[in-house]
Amino acid sequence: MKPGDVLTLNIEKVAHGGFCVARHENVVIFVRHCLPNEKVEAQLISLAPGKKSWFAQTVKVINASKFRRNSPCIYFKNDGCGGCDWMHTSASYQRQLKLEVLIEQLERLGKITHAREICRMNDVDPDEKNWRTKIRVVSNEKGDLGFRKYKSSEIQVIDKCLIADEQVNKSLSSLEKISPGTEIELVKNNNEVIVLGKDSKNIQIKRQVNQENFEASGAGFWQVHPKSVEVLSELIEKEIKRMSVNSFLDLYAGVGVFSNVILKNFPSAMGYAIESDRNAGENAKSNLSGFKQVKVLKQKVESWIFKNKEKFDLVVLDPPRSGAGVKVMQTLCKKAKDKIIYIACDPASLARDTAVAKDNGWILEKVEVFDFFPMTHHFESVAVFTRG
Ligand SMILES: C[S@@+](CC[C@H](N)C(=O)[O-])C[C@H]1O[C@@H](n2cnc3c(N)ncnc32)[C@H](O)[C@@H]1O
Repeated sequence: MKPGDVLTLNIEKVAHGGFCVARHENVVIFVRHCLPNEKVEAQLISLAPGKKSWFAQTVKVINASKFRRNSPCIYFKNDGCGGCDWMHTSASYQRQLKLEVLIEQLERLGKITHAREICRMNDVDPDEKNWRTKIRVVSNEKGDLGFRKYKSSEIQVIDKCLIADEQVNKSLSSLEKISPGTEIELVKNNNEVIVLGKDSKNIQIKRQVNQENFEASGAGFWQVHPKSVEVLSELIEKEIKRMSVNSFLDLYAGVGVFSNVILKNFPSAMGYAIESDRNAGENAKSNLSGFKQVKVLKQKVESWIFKNKEKFDLVVLDPPRSGAGVKVMQTLCKKAKDKIIYIACDPASLARDTAVAKDNGWILEKVEVFDFFPMTHHFESVAVFTRG
């Protein structure tokens, strides 16, 4: 088997990362742009990490799934934009596939045997197009803007992006050519679109969540789906309403949105919001300045958590894609008293961290799933752990 070989494959189940699994002579192949139960011709792209399996691209569909549709985006093609993974099926079937991915990861990596019973996919709006409030584009050698192709430095020039907000697309089409290799971000906020270049990333943006204002630097993290901060805040609020929170930890806190939810419900609770990005940490300090008993620490979770000896009623964590990792997870399992709410953007990391929580006496009560990233393979999970 070598890159470029075209194989006829029977597609099995969905896999993490926007792929489905197929097998050729007992070798596992992760195939893009296909669906479970299809028969396709796929071209091998490269060996997967570990060098035992392959990545491949569908080049011809022989037997199509009943869930297949023509892509509404002209840039979603074999050699096209690398951004979306599931344009060839409906948003509702994508949600089914994403739930399957989560369940499989929790069963295999998280040692959760009843994952299907405790994971629930929720509806979000918009659930298909025009949801991205932020896009990052790069200019090609002619100065035209576009997205990088899959696993390539080549650029797919675009005139608009179907999943981007209408105003973002309008702003994109009004831009002139720019010097080759320049990256810019277009960020929708309230009713305007801000264009951020290398030198203007630290511009401060005023964000609104449920009529509340938050300061956030343009370079810092902010969820891209217009409803996600609201929906996640409401879910956390619902989860903590039944508790009595005197102390809390908000790990990977960003600009302090979740600390704000906790403190609004328990104004006298003491806690720490920990965020390693200096700009986001500064924003959190100012966003939470009305609550004197919360300390915002601008440092890495792992440089603080092993030294601190306190315990907390509630731990909320929203780590980056890599997850919290074994040592942080083991430690916070000892520090948390009643509940751990884990917001995860990567199901494999959540599953690995779940196994650690389980080994340390915690029960995964439920996982609420939100497809805040329609057409891509990404989704958000909120896992609630209680003491066993
Ligand atoms: C997924 S974002 C969540 C932010 C925030 N909870 C929100 O929803 O707006 C992850 C955040 O963790 C921060 N971060 C990444 N690694 C970190 C670490 N080792 N320690 C502390 N913060 C970290 C990032 O800067 C980012 O703001």
